[in-house]
Amino acid sequence: MRCVIWNALDLRDNFKDVTIIYGARTVKDLVYKEELKDWELRKDVKLITTVDPGGESPDWRGEIGFVPTIVEKIAPSSKDTVAIVCGPPVMIKYTFPVLAKLGFADENIYTTLENRMKCGFGKCGRCNVGKVYVCKDGPVFTLAQLKELPDEY
Ligand code: FES
Repeated sequence: MRCVIWNALDLRDNFKDVTIIYGARTVKDLVYKEELKDWELRKDVKLITTVDPGGESPDWRGEIGFVPTIVEKIAPSSKDTVAIVCGPPVMIKYTFPVLAKLGFADENIYTTLENRMKCGFGKCGRCNVGKVYVCKDGPVFTLAQLKELPDEY
């Protein structure tokens, strides 16, 4: 995600709104804090950080709640917008319906199945979902593509 964000920011004029919703279990689990500060200071980026309930510190100024809840609360516009969701499978699973509720088309929702990969170059056969090799055919897929696969991802 960080590389995607860097690229979007490098090509910032090519995009309209850029919203980054970043969740972690606790404040201590947030990574790249200096970079987050830079993004927070930018006027052309909306950065929302959140931690799970109970994961906040006394000086925490971000959101408290799970990512799907915060996505619903922030409600980024789905018009001409893509959503890229990366993280623990359970978070991804519960974020998809929220994005659908916000009007995002399956073709405009991207995620990665990278966590299924082992060798990463098509030899071990451990990343297959049906006939698809995640390492060779992905690992990034749209939700529309995932819905064409057997329900084993
Ligand atoms: S990760 Fe080994 S075949 Fe895909």
